[in-house]
Amino acid sequence: MPSVVVFGATGFVGAPYVRALKQAHPDWPVTAYVRSSKPEAELKASLGADNIIVGDFSDAEKIKKISKENDIVVNAGNSFTEDPVAAIIAGQKEKNPATKGKLIHISGAGNFIDFGTSGKFNSESKVWNDAKEEDIKAIHKEMFNGQSDVPVLEAGSDIDTYIVCPSVVYGGASISAPTKGIGYMLLTSNAKPLGYVPYVGDGTAVLSTCHVLDLVDFLIKITERAAEGPAEGTAYSRYYMLETSRVQWKDMATELAKVMHARGLLPSSEPKAVPFEEAGEGEVKHLVAANMLIKGDRAAALGFKAKQPSILAQIHEDLKEVPI
Ligand SMILES: NC(=O)c1ccc[n+]([C@@H]2O[C@H](COP(=O)([O-])OP(=O)(O)OC[C@H]3O[C@@H](n4cnc5c(N)ncnc54)[C@H](OP(=O)(O)O)[C@@H]3O)[C@@H](O)[C@H]2O)c1
Repeated sequence: MPSVVVFGATGFVGAPYVRALKQAHPDWPVTAYVRSSKPEAELKASLGADNIIVGDFSDAEKIKKISKENDIVVNAGNSFTEDPVAAIIAGQKEKNPATKGKLIHISGAGNFIDFGTSGKFNSESKVWNDAKEEDIKAIHKEMFNGQSDVPVLEAGSDIDTYIVCPSVVYGGASISAPTKGIGYMLLTSNAKPLGYVPYVGDGTAVLSTCHVLDLVDFLIKITERAAEGPAEGTAYSRYYMLETSRVQWKDMATELAKVMHARGLLPSSEPKAVPFEEAGEGEVKHLVAANMLIKGDRAAALGFKAKQPSILAQIHEDLKEVPI
């Protein structure tokens, strides 16, 4: 019976994962690390977790200690910086070598955009494949999730690491999620100050997306794999890219504009074709203009199968009631 601690346990991905894990393995002790001020009994009931620990990702010593005390650590909280994963790794490394640490880290396929600025589909762009170790070795710190992926991959020589890398995660309506997750947040908070939902050029560039239920199913599989015993191969052979389906940016922008208009957030229900420079601030405009091309051959070999409907079919329900 492995003990599991989940960071980001109240999140869009973390909460359904904790619930699904307790459903699949009611006898595994699961601890939720949260920063919520809600009463402990309420959190335990809503997540189904056995223990609640309150803390921030900046509490490195606390995180290190909890990581050391548990058999499996899951980071569903943050992949953009080294917090909290550096402290998690430090704790796992201090474990007795006989009970080697096990870390499951959630990354994101924003790493793999082609940085095209034309908004067009590019058939020459690299398709990143999780079964090619050279693709995983090419991950670096300047990528969207590189600040966390690189230390996790490097820690793979001391502890058993697994990285699960979904693309934009959607499907909150299927699990009655009270929030929209980071993927939708990036898109809606980009559109709001612009006053429109942008797409670049002809909008044929593609975005990869992953339904939260497909992701959670696979996370349970990986957790069971980690619980079975020592990992085989190198850390570069335990990176899994997950995709439910790909959509063209123009189609994505068209549906998002309808939703945001219906919620009273934008004056028009139509998206706007713009040049790259007008597609938003900072890194998000790169996402909007580029292609995100991934192939999860390794995940598929381990049983990943996309079963859920497309984001275009879900977005209206997903964003109907959550705060935008
Ligand atoms: N959603 C996507 O489209 C997507 C796509 C690819 C990868 N990912 C990755 O998957 C992971 C989960 O994403 P998500 O969409 O579930 O995010 P989310 O809904 O924002 O959840 C983040 C979780 O981390 C907690 N958290 C954030 N900052 C914290 C801090 N300083 N101290 C303690 N707890 C903190 C949040 O607590 P509160 O509940 O208190 O806010 C929440 O439980 C992230 O690493 C993300 O980059 C997400």
